[in-house]
Amino acid sequence: MTARIVLLGATGYTGARTAEALVARGARPVLAGRDPDRLAALAGRLGGLETARADVSNPRSVRGLLGRGDVLVTTVGPFLQLGRAAVDAAVDAAAIYLDSTGEPPFVRRIFEHDAPRAAGTGAALIPAFGLDYVPGNLAAALALAEAGNRAHRVDVGYTLDGTSGQAFSRGTLVSLVSMLVEPGFAFARGRLVTEAAGRRTWTFEAAGRSRRGLSVGGSEHLTLPALAPTLRGVGVALDWFGPLTPLAHRLAPVSALAARLPGAQKAARRLAQLLGGRVAEAPSAATLANARTHTVAEVRDRGGALVSRVQLSGPEAYGLTASLLAWGATRAAEHGVRGTGAIGPVQAFGLEELTAGAAKAGLTRT
Ligand SMILES: NC(=O)c1ccc[n+]([C@@H]2O[C@H](COP(=O)([O-])OP(=O)(O)OC[C@H]3O[C@@H](n4cnc5c(N)ncnc54)[C@H](OP(=O)(O)O)[C@@H]3O)[C@@H](O)[C@H]2O)c1
Repeated sequence: MTARIVLLGATGYTGARTAEALVARGARPVLAGRDPDRLAALAGRLGGLETARADVSNPRSVRGLLGRGDVLVTTVGPFLQLGRAAVDAAVDAAAIYLDSTGEPPFVRRIFEHDAPRAAGTGAALIPAFGLDYVPGNLAAALALAEAGNRAHRVDVGYTLDGTSGQAFSRGTLVSLVSMLVEPGFAFARGRLVTEAAGRRTWTFEAAGRSRRGLSVGGSEHLTLPALAPTLRGVGVALDWFGPLTPLAHRLAPVSALAARLPGAQKAARRLAQLLGGRVAEAPSAATLANARTHTVAEVRDRGGALVSRVQLSGPEAYGLTASLLAWGATRAAEHGVRGTGAIGPVQAFGLEELTAGAAKAGLTRT
């Protein structure tokens, strides 16, 4: 029997695109959010879907959305501020949980704090199931499979081509700025360590051009070591900041220090709201029409020699995120997932299934 799919955050930019992608895949998700009128309008536009009211500031309303074994997809962010109620509800209901977060500290919290509770109830938590960080997990898993036990270190680089005008949604900007003073992390010498985002840079080739990415904690640091026992280092780098990359790299130690100041988080959240009020809800039409995402994974052996390399390319970030979430949710609703607790995309679906699902979302090896 196919499980019920509940989409929380359906009236947001990514939420509405995910609702459309779910319907395009033949699903009939329950659209959930805090504004009944906007939910009804969206449900009507998509052919008459069920709607439900829930506000994450009232966790019982979120818990009330779910029956045992449902699939919950949430796009309510910033996740560090607003994400807890959905995770707790999924754990209580033994649900399969997927989200659109790109916030590494939130992903880390799920793997370190929520995983045991989820395993206890039989819930499966699969965070960051969008452009952040499915392509990196998939590219790295394919490269690690090719490298076998020579794999000592894997680096993943994300980049974009063809953006013009505003390249991100308001929700992404608010989430990114809110996170400025949160501690980052890395996987080095075989263990997870706290390290400020932007502390390192990685130069890599993608789609025929050299790129320079800034280090971040991804989900890869938490998910890949279980796939390759010989792996001692994992790096994830984002080439999204263009000419600001060298400045952000130089400021990384400062932001780590600033994070320790009282009131730093509150100030970052205020700044995020202020900046969010000055940009459009969605990326520019030109970006949506022309942008492409590229993700590269390179595996090296103990001596630093390149062993394997995989590049995946896909459509613009929001279409890709919506399609990945829609594929993951429908696949989970029909066939379940492999495992409970907190799991990565490859662990949840298997490498072959995820490769096929990603291809349906337009993400292919190039
Ligand atoms: N990593 C990636 O690749 C990727 C891609 C896309 C998006 N994202 C992330 O996904 C998140 C959403 O992005 P977006 O562009 O869709 O932002 P958005 O348009 O601002 O959507 C945010 C959603 O959260 C809902 N929300 C806010 N407060 C709520 C509350 N108290 N209770 C219930 N719902 C509440 C909003 O409801 P209303 O509609 O009622 O305001 C809206 O539906 C962000 O964190 C963004 O970074 C990541």
